[in-house]
Amino acid sequence: MRNITKNLYKLITYKAPINLSYHWNFGSIAAYALFIQIVTGFMMALWYIPSVTQAFDSVEYVMREVNYGWLFRYTHANGASVFFCAVYIHMARGIYYGSYTYPRQWVWYTGFIMFMLMIVTAFFGYVLPWGQMSYWAATVITSLLSTIPLVGNDLLTFIWGGISVDQATLTRIYGFHFILPFVIAGLVVLHLVLLHQHGSGNPLGVVSYDNVSFHPFYTVKDLLGIWVVNTVLIVLVCFYPNLLSHPDNYIPANPEVTPLHIVPEWYFLPFYAILRSVPNKEGGILLLIAALACLALFPAISKPVIRSGMFRPLFQHLFWFFIANCVLLGWSGGNPVTYPYYEICQVATLFYFLFFLLNYLLVKLEIKLLLPEGLLSKKKEGGATSSSPLSKKKGGGGTPSDPRSPNLGGGF
Ligand code: HEM
Repeated sequence: MRNITKNLYKLITYKAPINLSYHWNFGSIAAYALFIQIVTGFMMALWYIPSVTQAFDSVEYVMREVNYGWLFRYTHANGASVFFCAVYIHMARGIYYGSYTYPRQWVWYTGFIMFMLMIVTAFFGYVLPWGQMSYWAATVITSLLSTIPLVGNDLLTFIWGGISVDQATLTRIYGFHFILPFVIAGLVVLHLVLLHQHGSGNPLGVVSYDNVSFHPFYTVKDLLGIWVVNTVLIVLVCFYPNLLSHPDNYIPANPEVTPLHIVPEWYFLPFYAILRSVPNKEGGILLLIAALACLALFPAISKPVIRSGMFRPLFQHLFWFFIANCVLLGWSGGNPVTYPYYEICQVATLFYFLFFLLNYLLVKLEIKLLLPEGLLSKKKEGGATSSSPLSKKKGGGGTPSDPRSPNLGGGF
C-alpha cells in the first residue's frame, strides 16, 4: 500500500517542462477516449449477442429498447472516431516536434504497436453489428490473407473457422474485440513508464531546466482538453450520430448481395487508398506494409540534427505537404476506383512515400549545413556514436540526462 501511494505521489509530482503547448494534450485525450470505449463497450456487451442470426437485432434492441442504449451505442461508435483523431494528431505532433527521436524512440515504438492494435480492434468492432458493410469489410480484408504464398488459403480457412466469414468468424472476432482494449491499456502504462524515464519533450526540442509539477499545472490543462473533446463527442452523439458511419450498415448482412461500393471507416481511408492504388492484390498489400513500416521505423530512418520542426523551415513545408497528402489519400480512398479518383490515389500514394525519402535527404542536408566541419569529419571517421563529442556532452534533448549537445538537440 505504501508503495502504491509512493508511486502515485511520484506520478502526480512528475516534473514536466514548463513550456508544453496544447499539442501535448492529445496523449491524455487518447487515454480518455480509450477509457470511454472500454466503459461504453462493456455496457453494449451486456446485451450484444455474437450470433449471425441475432447480432444485428441485438444491436437494434440496444438502440430502441434499452434505457440509454442509444447513448452507449452512439458514444462507442463516435468515440472510436475521436480516439483515432486524437491519436493521429498525437503522432503528427511527435513527427513535427521530433518527439520520436532519441531518447524517446521506444515511446514511439510502443505507441506504434498500440496504433496497430487499435486498427485491429476498430476493424473487429465494425464487424460486430453484422450489417452489410460489416460482413463485406470482413470478407474483403480477411481475404487479403489468401495472397500469402503457399499457406495463404489454409490460413484464411483457419482464421474464418470455415469456408467463408460465418458464425465461427463472428465469435472469434467478438472475443478479440473484447480483450484487445485491455491489452492496449496495459501498453499505455508501458508507454508512460518509458516516457517518464527521460521525461517529456517540449516544443523547443531542447533540454528543459524549467520544470513544474505535473499536478496541478498539467492535470488542469489536460482536463481542459478532455472537456473540449467531451463537447465535440456530445455534439456528435446527440446531433449527428450517423455523420461518420455508412448507411449500408443499417442493412442486415447478406452474403448473396455485394454492396456497390465497399468502404471502411474514415480513419482507415488513407491506408485503404494505398492498398487499392495498384491494380494487383499482392502489390497493394506490399505497399500497405511498406507504408506502415515507414511510420513504424520513423525513429530509425529520421535522425534530425535539430529536433523541433519549429527550427527546421524546410521540414515545415515537407510536414504540411505530408498532412495535406494524407487528407488527399483519405478522400480518394473513399471514392470509387474510377477516373479521376484512382489516378489521384496513385499520385498521393507516391507522394506519401516521397515524404519519407525527402525527409531522409533533408536530414542529411541539415547535418551538412549545420554541423561544424570539425564535428562532421569526426562523425565521418568514427560516426557520432558514443565516442563522439556530441553524444558525450550532457543536455540538448528533453531532459538534463539526455546526452546531446544543447545547441543541436538532434538525435544522431
Ligand atoms: C492508445 C493510444 C495512445 C495513448 C493513450 C498515448 C498516450 C500518451 C501520453 C499520455 C503521453 C504523454 C503526453 C503527451 O505527450 O501527449 C504520450 C507521449 C508520447 N506518445 Fe503516445 N499515446 C498513444 C499512442 C501513440 C502513438 C500511436 C504514438 C506514435 C506512433 C505515440 C508516441 C508518443 C511519443 C513519441 C510521446 C512522447 C512525446 C514527448 O514527450 O515529446 N503515442 N502518449
